[in-house]
Amino acid sequence: MKVLFVCLGNICRSPTAEGVFRHYVEQAGLSDKITIDSAGTSDWHLGKTPDPRTVVAAAQRGYDVSTLRGRQVTAEDFAEFDLILAMDKSNLSNLQAIQPAASKAELALYLPRFGISPDEVPDPYYGGEDGFELVLDMLEHASQVLLDEIKAKM
Ligand code: 4NP
Repeated sequence: MKVLFVCLGNICRSPTAEGVFRHYVEQAGLSDKITIDSAGTSDWHLGKTPDPRTVVAAAQRGYDVSTLRGRQVTAEDFAEFDLILAMDKSNLSNLQAIQPAASKAELALYLPRFGISPDEVPDPYYGGEDGFELVLDMLEHASQVLLDEIKAKM
C-alpha cells in the first residue's frame, strides 16, 4: 500500500499529513507494509524543509517532520502510488489535470474520503499558530480513520 499526501507548497499541510500518518503506521507496526510520501502541486519549495511553524507544531505533538524535503507531484506518481490524497479542492483539481488516463491510482479529497468534515484542510501559511494546530487536529483524526481502513483490508 502506497499513500501520497498532496497540498500546494509541500511545506505545511502535506508534510504534516505524512509525519502524522507515518507515526501512526509505526505505532501499529506496519511500516514495512505501507509506503508514505508527500508532494506539492507547485514547484515553489523544491528541496526545502517544511515551514518552521510546521516543524515546531508537529514536534510539540511528537512528530518529526524536520527531515522532509519539498518536491512537486508528477504524472509518474499516479503509477507509483495506490492512494493520492489532496488537502483541498484546488489541489484536487490540479491533480486531476495531470492524472494520466490509464492511471489506476485512487485520487480523492482527504477528509471527505474518510467521512470527515469540513471538505478541506485549510492552508495555514498566511495565518497564525492556531492554523497549524487545526491542521494537526484534522490530520490526526483522518490518519486514524485511514489506518483503520487499511488494517481492515489486510
Ligand atoms: P501548504 O501551504 O500548501 O500546506 O504547504 C503553503 C505553503 C506555501 C505557500 C502556500 C501554501 N506559498 O504561497 O508559498
